[in-house]
This record gives sequence, C-alpha cells and structure tokens, in this order.
Amino acid sequence: MTPINMSSDTQTLPTEQMYDAMRSAPLGDDMLRADPTVNRLEELAAEKIGKEAALFVPSGTMGNLVSLMVHAKPGDEVIVDSESHVYYYEAGGIASVAGLMPRTVPSRGGRLDPEQVAAAVRKRDQHFPVPRVLCLENTHNRSGGRIVPVELQNRLAAVAHERGLAVHLDGARIFDAAIASGLPAAAFTEHVDSVMFCLSKGLSCPVGSIIAGTAAFIEQARLVRKRLGGAMRQAGILAACGIVALQTMIERLAEDHRRARRLAEEIATIPGLSVEMESVQTNMVYVDHTGTGLDTDELLARLATAGLLASDRAPTHFRLVANRHHGDAEIAEAVARIRRALATDDR
Ligand SMILES: Cc1ncc(COP(=O)(O)O)c(C=O)c1O
Repeated sequence: MTPINMSSDTQTLPTEQMYDAMRSAPLGDDMLRADPTVNRLEELAAEKIGKEAALFVPSGTMGNLVSLMVHAKPGDEVIVDSESHVYYYEAGGIASVAGLMPRTVPSRGGRLDPEQVAAAVRKRDQHFPVPRVLCLENTHNRSGGRIVPVELQNRLAAVAHERGLAVHLDGARIFDAAIASGLPAAAFTEHVDSVMFCLSKGLSCPVGSIIAGTAAFIEQARLVRKRLGGAMRQAGILAACGIVALQTMIERLAEDHRRARRLAEEIATIPGLSVEMESVQTNMVYVDHTGTGLDTDELLARLATAGLLASDRAPTHFRLVANRHHGDAEIAEAVARIRRALATDDR
C-alpha cells in the first residue's frame, strides 16, 4: 500500500516541467549576481508579489530571519503573534540568531487585534527594548491555514507604521490567501515593508523561498543572507523550478482548496472526529480528535498504519494538507483510511 502523505504541502515533489527547467537552466555564480536564472526568478517574483526587488533564499525560516534582521538589531523588540510560525516553529532563531526580544500578542483564528497590537507598542523609555517591527502571517498556519483579510492586515500595518515600526509579512502561503480571496497577491503586500513567500510548499519546488521589498531593503537583505551562510552559487538549478512555479503553479492552488474542503466535509461525518468548517479556507484541515478518546500520537500511529500520514497538532488535533499529489481519488481514499484506522478500535 502506498501511503498518502497529507502531513504538509512541503511534501510536494518537482513537476516534470521543473526537472526539464533544471536541466536547461543557464547557470552562474549567484554570489556574484551572475546566475541569469536566479536573476530572472527574482525579477519575476518581485513583479508577482508587487514589490520593487526580491531575493532568493534557501528556506522560509531564513527568509523571515533575514527580513527581521534587516528591520531590527539585537536588543530590539519584535511584536509577534504567539501562534505564529516565526515564534512557534523556527527554533527560537529570532532570539538566538537575530538577538530580538519577542513581545507576543495572541491572535484569534490567526487574527491579531489592532488595539492589542497598539497597546503592545510601548513608548520609548530606557526600561524597554525598542519596538522596531511587527511580524504578520498570512495564511495563518496554526489556525488551520485561515486567511487574514486584507483590510485587517492593512489596519495592523497602519498601527505599526503610525508608531514607527516596520512590518514584515510571513507570507509562506500568500498565494493561497490570494487565490482563495480572488485577489492579486500584491493586494496583501501593498502596506507591508517586506514579505517572505515559499516556493517549496504548495507551489511544488524542491527548495527555496523569496523575500521582497524595496531595492534598498533587498540590498541589505543580501548582506544578511550572506552573513547567515544563505548566499548560494549555481542556485539557478533551483531557481529554475521557482520560475516554473510562479508561471504554472499558482492558479491550481484552488484545486487544493476545493479538495481540502471536500476532505473536511467527509471527515466531519466520522464519529469521534470534528472539523471547524469555518477554519477550512485554503489547503489545510485541522481535525479535532478528542471524541475518539485517543491521544494524538496514538491516532497518528493508527493513521500511518492505515496508510495516511498526517501531522501533529497535539493535544486535540491532527492536521491534513491537500497538495498537488492528491486528486479526488486520493481524497476519497484518505477518508476511507481514516475510517479504517478508527474502526480497528479495540478500546
Ligand atoms: C507560515 C510559515 N512560515 C514559515 C515557514 C518556514 O518555511 P521553511 O520550512 O522553508 O523554513 C513555514 C513552513 O512550514 C510556514 O508554514
């Protein structure tokens, strides 16, 4: 039995067109800005995301880190959602590498409250670290891939800007937000100073993320990327996939969203499981398994035995993510495997 891997959209493999592009990409030393394929990707990415300039980085984590390190220096404060990826899942890099002081504000369903953010920006006083940057996330991973509406994002950015803070957007899945909202991605980036998005998730590239902002921001980001060891050489072999992704893989994200929705609807009919349907806005399904009486590890092990790989959102949930490798047949089979995993119940 071939497992169906729904643990993440990071599980996607390159398309045939990407393999072809890798083979034929003109290459050079990107450290010297001499890789024509990287240069082309960066131009295309800046255009697609509505910013002046862009930079190819090895990962989303490094993209966030580089961006925050351009906006703030060690000892400064970053205002960040306590459920954000940058705070929750990036190994404490904002503290240990960037030397930033995180000041957390809790979001609800991925949405920060502008008043709470305003209150978190303390006045300049020798007792306080200097607040320098607000970090937003869209779509919001830990709330189930929910979209932060553009109007709210703009209000949050205004709160930060009025107080002299820069705004960075962790837009790892910004094209999911854009496609599901029927808006261009640039609508989500108009009022932020920098944005990071991933090529290696639903867009199916093997490696790589982009950061974008003004030309001056990207100039500084290039230096920080180098400092972190993220400057690469013949990176065009990877950038070639990114070009294909931006040209061919964005519109199809709507299929992942439709299939995630269908998956959620089917799962909601399985005894012991429930899904907050309002949270299913893009490619993720967070499933509440408390009704099964199983703990998350045990449930994930049963799913794996039945041939379905999911990820852990302990103690109450597991996560499934639809990606391009899941057609309608895989969605139906995933549901059947969940039913099977729970039916082998010997409690
Ligand atoms: C919202 C968000 N930001 C950043 C990242 C980090 O990306 P990477 O795994 O490429 O470091 C992820 C990865 O899942 C993510 O979901």
